[in-house]
Amino acid sequence: MARIPDAFIDELLARTDIVEVVGARVPLKRQGKEYSACCPFHDERSPSFTVSPTKQFYHCFGCGAHGTALSFLMNYDRLEFLDAVEELARRNGMEVPRETQQRNENNDTRDLFNALEAAARFFQRNLEGSEKAKAYLDGRGVDAAIRMQFMIGYAPDGYSALKDALGTDERRMKLLDRAGLFSKNDRGHVYDKFRDRVMFPIHDRRGRVIAFGGRVLQKDDGPKYLNSPETALFHKGRELYGLWQVKQANQKIARLVVVEGYMDVVSLFQFGVKEAVATLGTATTPEHAELLFRNAPDVYFCFDGDAAGQRAAWRAVESVLPRIKDGRQAFFLFLPDGEDPDTIVRQEGAEGFHARLKHAKPLSEFFFEQISVEIDTSTPDGKSKLAEKAKSLISGIPDGEFRDQMEQLNIRKTTNVQLSATALDFVNELAGKIGEDLRSVARGEIPKSYGKVVPTKQAATYRPQIPVAKRTLVRNIITLILQKPSLALAIESTHGFSALRQPGMDLLLELIDLARARPEVTTGAILENFAEREEIGALQKLALQKLPGDEDSWRQEVLDAAVQLEKQMLQQRLDELQAKQRNIGLDEADKYELRTLLQARIGRH
Ligand code: UTP
Ligand code: MN
Repeated sequence: MARIPDAFIDELLARTDIVEVVGARVPLKRQGKEYSACCPFHDERSPSFTVSPTKQFYHCFGCGAHGTALSFLMNYDRLEFLDAVEELARRNGMEVPRETQQRNENNDTRDLFNALEAAARFFQRNLEGSEKAKAYLDGRGVDAAIRMQFMIGYAPDGYSALKDALGTDERRMKLLDRAGLFSKNDRGHVYDKFRDRVMFPIHDRRGRVIAFGGRVLQKDDGPKYLNSPETALFHKGRELYGLWQVKQANQKIARLVVVEGYMDVVSLFQFGVKEAVATLGTATTPEHAELLFRNAPDVYFCFDGDAAGQRAAWRAVESVLPRIKDGRQAFFLFLPDGEDPDTIVRQEGAEGFHARLKHAKPLSEFFFEQISVEIDTSTPDGKSKLAEKAKSLISGIPDGEFRDQMEQLNIRKTTNVQLSATALDFVNELAGKIGEDLRSVARGEIPKSYGKVVPTKQAATYRPQIPVAKRTLVRNIITLILQKPSLALAIESTHGFSALRQPGMDLLLELIDLARARPEVTTGAILENFAEREEIGALQKLALQKLPGDEDSWRQEVLDAAVQLEKQMLQQRLDELQAKQRNIGLDEADKYELRTLLQARIGRH
């Protein structure tokens, strides 16, 4: 992907008014310096969503959603990063800088997209002309609207229908080949890959056709489904069939249902369950998991009730666990033997299907159920085996509420009143974890609610007191620079305090460097810059603080604080030298430095 320079993003954000961007989509109410609304990213009755024009960011106190105008577009309009950049650039009449090589590649890619689009249209036209293909879809109850919406088509019989129609010159032949639409025999003869099949185009996140799935009309006509091979545009482990249509149909996707087949997605959609997507004949990959959660907070995996379904579900668990962050939930639904979502929704309607979803198993439940298989959990030995197995899998879950819950569940499931050695280990680990969480609360990160799972008694006794967050000098400057990045320019040099050993010092230095290197950077953009870092929670909290005073007083505060820090560093060095003097003695250079420092201190007092 072409990298867009930070400076361009900064300028873009500096020229954009986040209030306008958000306000065009969500009704905002002015409240002092900021604007508020009911959060567009979660359901709520009273507004906890704020937009700050001075800091150029939005933040929801309810669900923690936050970001810049760019991330708002990505999340609200569900645009990819580059598309969101382009959208804002267009509004501001700016051109997105890209390297020339990328541009050629783009032209090439565009041709490939066009070839696939042309093929999809060709298949659609052929469906119109094929009585037997239409009869097949009629027989399966696929209505006209859905055929249109999913661009369902038909690849004619014979070996060269597509080739003859669209492969009119050398260049086009090449494109169709790169699009994965041809096969080649031993003698090098090129022919249509899809023949006498109902065609399901696969769309990318922007609605462009990137591949196909083709179904035979009759049993025993080769593999039931034939999918496009991997191409430059199509990586099946990263795509979800139906996602584009689901996005088109919903302003906000509350949940996504993952099913196994093309027909399942299509039928569910037709019956009003417009939230289903399918993996393309593969197991759920971690990329799928990320894509799913980026589009919806809750993901339901729906599988056949047989052994293959259980295996597939476990693969999904493995892909999902490392992607579970706060606010993300996964559920598992197993259908009766011989049924799939297509048959269920036709028998029971959307209501019936939704009722089944209501009873889907939460990830935690399915997890413990699966790892308990083949373990006799009534014996201490079995319990510790279970604990061990759970522990290694749980360790792959990112820190957060879900992981805490899983750890607590593990303790509850693997201990009675009498704790085994392994379980004790766990309790200790958990206690450490809770302590850490409380510390992060104290550091100003978003407080965590311990949700539905009540901590076990054992764990609760380890709960330490919540320390009170201290206002320190370093924290103060961080807050000021974060909220008004241009203040960093007032600090002439960080040399005088950069070696000071104090919590937050590295962060402060990094912040100063960043604000200086990117003079147009906004608060929102800085937060974005730290989005993947562990400091983000603390920074968010600081960015939200209301500071008394005005810009001039803040500048003075920054300058005063810098002077204080320099003094502290002098003292730190003095202490070091004096300790050295006591312990091993000073050499000439040390003595000289000590004298200079003492004089400087006198000078400053
Ligand atoms: P199923 O065999 O369960 O088919 O395959 P289905 O979706 O219920 O299809 P219908 O209802 O008979 O038309 C589930 C999914 O597995 C992939 C396809 O993505 C299919 O939708 N698959 C299946 C293949 O890729 N190739 C095959 O030969 C079979
Ligand atoms: Mn089926």
